[in-house]
Amino acid sequence: MSGINYSEKIPNNVNLSDDRTLQRALEQWQPNFINWWDDMGPEGSTNHDVYLRTAVSVDPQGWAQFGHVKMRDYRWGIFLNPGEADRTIHFGDHKGEKAWNDVPGEYRANLRRIIVTQGDTEPASVEQQRHLGATAPSLYDLRNLFQINVEEGRHLWAMVYLLHKHFGRDGREEADALLQRNSGDEDNPRILGAFNEETPDWLSFFMFTYFTDRDGKFQLCALAESSFEPLARTTKFMLTEEAHHMFVGESGVSRAIQRTCQVMNELKTDDVNKLRAAGVIDLPTLQRYLNFHFSVTIDLFGADESSNAATFYSTGIKGRYEETKRDDDHVLKDRTYPVLEVKDGQLVQKDVPMLNALNEVLRDDYIKDSVGGVERWNKVITKAGIDFQLRVPHKAFNRNIGALAGANVTPQGEVVSETEWRLRAGEWLPSTDDRAFVASLMHKVVEPGKYANWIAPPAVGINRQDPNFEYVRFN
Ligand SMILES: [Fe+2]
Ligand SMILES: [Fe+2]
Repeated sequence: MSGINYSEKIPNNVNLSDDRTLQRALEQWQPNFINWWDDMGPEGSTNHDVYLRTAVSVDPQGWAQFGHVKMRDYRWGIFLNPGEADRTIHFGDHKGEKAWNDVPGEYRANLRRIIVTQGDTEPASVEQQRHLGATAPSLYDLRNLFQINVEEGRHLWAMVYLLHKHFGRDGREEADALLQRNSGDEDNPRILGAFNEETPDWLSFFMFTYFTDRDGKFQLCALAESSFEPLARTTKFMLTEEAHHMFVGESGVSRAIQRTCQVMNELKTDDVNKLRAAGVIDLPTLQRYLNFHFSVTIDLFGADESSNAATFYSTGIKGRYEETKRDDDHVLKDRTYPVLEVKDGQLVQKDVPMLNALNEVLRDDYIKDSVGGVERWNKVITKAGIDFQLRVPHKAFNRNIGALAGANVTPQGEVVSETEWRLRAGEWLPSTDDRAFVASLMHKVVEPGKYANWIAPPAVGINRQDPNFEYVRFN
């Protein structure tokens, strides 16, 4: 026995102390998780005391308790939102039947695959971000990075709980494998492409948490509709944490923009070289980072036409975003949906069976949602009196999956030749120079209340702490 006190060490609302089988599985997995955290988690952070919120229950008072803790001792917990008694399935071929508390045998493989794919992204992002602490622009930002890292760790626990509790021996093997794959590893990479990319600098981190954590939100929302109750309830609670991750991204980019605009006004210039010499990120570079992160992220939704997507929906495993708010038959057999393809050098729409286009449906919902923050960034620019607007690129731009993979489409949605695309890619995507410049700005600032030159301070502190609060104490 490892002497884990279950209700204390692993805060939970799943009756862990009464479930011997689950206890045994988690007891074996937990030391491997801690080893993974030590090896692949935030570099050099072992002795830091970090002002973190910890979820200790799902009610409003319990899910955000703040205090300084060592991340290694973070109380990674297992929480399911309360279930509705007698919930019925509200979409697909089983519509109207009782929701499942156990995994139906015929859907076991697909459910496991979905849980593993979601679970794999959680530790992947921690790995991608592990070097960022060395160049944090402030203690406030460093704390936010660590908060996201521990919560992605908790999201891994959430998926491991489902695997251990509902999938027996192969579930335990999958849970182990989640700690064995590593982001960017040549032999054993993470499952999805975007989670094998590096997060090399803080601008990338903010773009990632704005765009890619939002992909997480949409996947979790679709899984929150699942007929498999434990999955639906787990993902609903994960969504409460995801909101903060996207806030970190949106406000981080916004603060970079704010600082750039301030310097543009002080120097009365939009000359990129002068702005770079003044140590801020010029707006065209911000646009290129945006183009990159947006296009890489929308690939995560998968191929525009997918028979797997149809199966996941019809069998009741994965719904649409806000399924219950839609007024159609929630079976979708007779419906179509437009997808894009390039035909004779033109982007054209074609209607395909909606069930097969559900990846595209979710991608389009995502795009609508992600535009909102970009508009708020533009308000910062407008308020500074500067004539420049950021835009999300056309959804056919820089795609690597589905019918649009490899199509040469500009951010404005114009199909161009391969040669032109290559010639102009540097206008649209971050160049080696852009990345080197952004990297050159990354220096660690650790004095309470101080910020790196390229980013403005936040409007309010975390949990309304005062501006000089010591969010991270180094020991
Ligand atoms: Fe997550
Ligand atoms: Fe997240």
